[in-house]
Amino acid sequence: MSYNYKIPEDILAHTGDEYEKYFGAVIPPIFQNTLFAVSTSANNIPEHPYFYTRESNPTVEAAEKKLAALEGGEDALFFSSGMAAISAAMLHFLKKDCHVITIKSIYGPARALLKEYFPKKFGIRTSFLSEEEAEHLEDFIREDTRLIYLESPSTAVFYQQDLEKIGELGRKYHIGTVIDNTCGTPLYQHPLEYGIDISVHTATKYLSGHSDVIAGALVSSCEVCREIREQERALFGGCADPHQVWLVLRGMRTLKLRLEQHGKNALAVAEYLQQHPQVERVFYPGLSEGRQKELARRQLTGYNGLMSFIMKGTPRQAEVFLDALQVFLKGCSWGGFESLAYPFSVGTSSEYNENAGFPANLIRLHVGLEHVDTLIADLAQALEKSAKEE
Ligand SMILES: Cc1ncc(COP(=O)(O)O)c(C=O)c1O
Repeated sequence: MSYNYKIPEDILAHTGDEYEKYFGAVIPPIFQNTLFAVSTSANNIPEHPYFYTRESNPTVEAAEKKLAALEGGEDALFFSSGMAAISAAMLHFLKKDCHVITIKSIYGPARALLKEYFPKKFGIRTSFLSEEEAEHLEDFIREDTRLIYLESPSTAVFYQQDLEKIGELGRKYHIGTVIDNTCGTPLYQHPLEYGIDISVHTATKYLSGHSDVIAGALVSSCEVCREIREQERALFGGCADPHQVWLVLRGMRTLKLRLEQHGKNALAVAEYLQQHPQVERVFYPGLSEGRQKELARRQLTGYNGLMSFIMKGTPRQAEVFLDALQVFLKGCSWGGFESLAYPFSVGTSSEYNENAGFPANLIRLHVGLEHVDTLIADLAQALEKSAKEE
């Protein structure tokens, strides 16, 4: 019988590994097989619960147990990507011609699903709320609303939702609630504790942590996970590859150490940028104010390496800054060991910015695990070059 670990460090190190099953191997084997031959014992009881890897697989289950224990859910499911997990979670609640509530600044492909794909295919309509409107989310609930889909913190301007309030609204109006908790991380934020139905993750980011895996996951109750395992995951087929999940398991063992270092580096970078004359505003949950600060204090036990800032000056100056970076690579992902910079809204039209919920000249940084002095020196020299550009 496996020990019931309760503390995050112990869960990350041991939960789900089931040494006794696999000859004491300290790392569970990769079950890279598609099918499990079926046999029954003399009294007609199946000898194991496995049948076909699209439905379940022992390596995938090891990661599911670890993630569920870490985030305080009854169960978890892994998927082939974050988008596979997100679409399965949405489809679980959606019905033809229903209504969804979300915010403008959600992750682009999730927005495209709600804005373009679902309306065209299934007549599903979505209200995209601004930050101010989201504070009065109840006013936008209709009789046909089936789903509230949010990110908290969001991944461009790190806007947080009041998870307790959202959980209450879900229960009061019998509406499904889904939070993309990738930015919160399963270590620092537990949406299910506030009554949220499903927490989704792209495991491509911090869970794997080395920029070498595409995978996704969701955490929920046993009942919801069973339904999604049998329906959305098995029927749409977005199951996770055991080898990819084994890499996620490896990443998870160092999740706490990596996140702590990302957080320390990011806070130092955010403080540096905040006092810089070429920076108009920094977005980082660790430096938030007012209601957002209160939500961060209540809901988050730590902050990761993701932040953004509005650069003063022209879009051309922002481009010069980005081109001048030598240590920060230019790229749109995040959560790996490496530092990245990405122009969210540099030179984009005001219509685009309004639809996406981004302020103009917004640059996102993922602060990696390089030495913080190296990172600040890189930003300093790039800002200096951009200041010289008229
Ligand atoms: C917040 C957020 N959610 C979901 C996704 C999608 O994850 P994946 O690329 O694993 O499908 C991303 C990817 O960047 C993301 O940033």
